[in-house]
Amino acid sequence: MEILRTVREMQARAEQFRLSGKRIGVVPTMGALHEGHTSLLSLARTRSDVVILTIFVNPTQFGPNEDYRRYPRDFERDEKLAREAGVDSIFRPDVEEMYPDGFQTYVVTEEVAQTFEGKIRPTHFRGVATVVAKLFHIIRPHVAVFGQKDAQQLFIIRAMVRDLNFDIELLTAPIVRESDGLARSSRNVYLGELERLNASSLYRSLAGAGELIGKGERDLRVVRDSILATLAAASPTLIDYVAFVDPATFREIDSLRGGDVLILLAARFGTTRLIDNLLVPLR
Ligand code: PAJ
Repeated sequence: MEILRTVREMQARAEQFRLSGKRIGVVPTMGALHEGHTSLLSLARTRSDVVILTIFVNPTQFGPNEDYRRYPRDFERDEKLAREAGVDSIFRPDVEEMYPDGFQTYVVTEEVAQTFEGKIRPTHFRGVATVVAKLFHIIRPHVAVFGQKDAQQLFIIRAMVRDLNFDIELLTAPIVRESDGLARSSRNVYLGELERLNASSLYRSLAGAGELIGKGERDLRVVRDSILATLAAASPTLIDYVAFVDPATFREIDSLRGGDVLILLAARFGTTRLIDNLLVPLR
């Protein structure tokens, strides 16, 4: 496994892979790897000959009062996990390498980036789309893997790939959870003991909602109330949103008719913001 630090080195290595007929899979991350990330690496491996892991804590996707500085960074551990996962190359550029002086070009996904996460984090998705577009141009992968954990991010990357004609196959990996249902996240390390216990209410409330709908409940107010009751019992600092969206458009729906429904949650425990979601099929 090799570690590449510059755009030039990464471009040259990717070109070699392509010229030798290898199918390149990329898994973009911000490091602090956990089983969610390693599941993406395994999925990439099934669909490509070489797997490139990118590790870059991307400053442009953090707001001014967010956790950019304290975001967990542990490259030695990441390197070990990557090796165990059979990664071929790690691309780990510096901030100056990705955003040199004079940088001024961004990728903006308009409508969808203003809702839900985008409403609370107004420049977040601009930062995500920009860095992912840069990684796609640098590596020119055949396949890229993203997690369903960040459902809105995934939707935005799909929109960008379609709208800007990236010739890349996107694969989605399911959410990897702890034994009590909490979605794995690099930010879970911020949680105190009690907050950690309470945070499992995110998944419990989603699972409860899924069951209600599965049993035939079609009134979204009833489903929303059940989610809010489960969350409230776990004393979150704030519930940012509970939303029901059409996964095909990411627009909010106000009634359950045909198609699947994607339930989105964001809440804070202490100062830690967590998101989760569940796709519920409607039959
Ligand atoms: P990061 O939060 O490190 O996540 C990297 C990838 O891992 C994303 O595709 C995310 O959806 C996926 N992931 C995280 N937790 C997961 C879990 N519990 N189960 C399954 N997949 C999970 O998302 C980012 O980084 C950044 O925004 C990035 C796309 C790298 C751009 O900077």
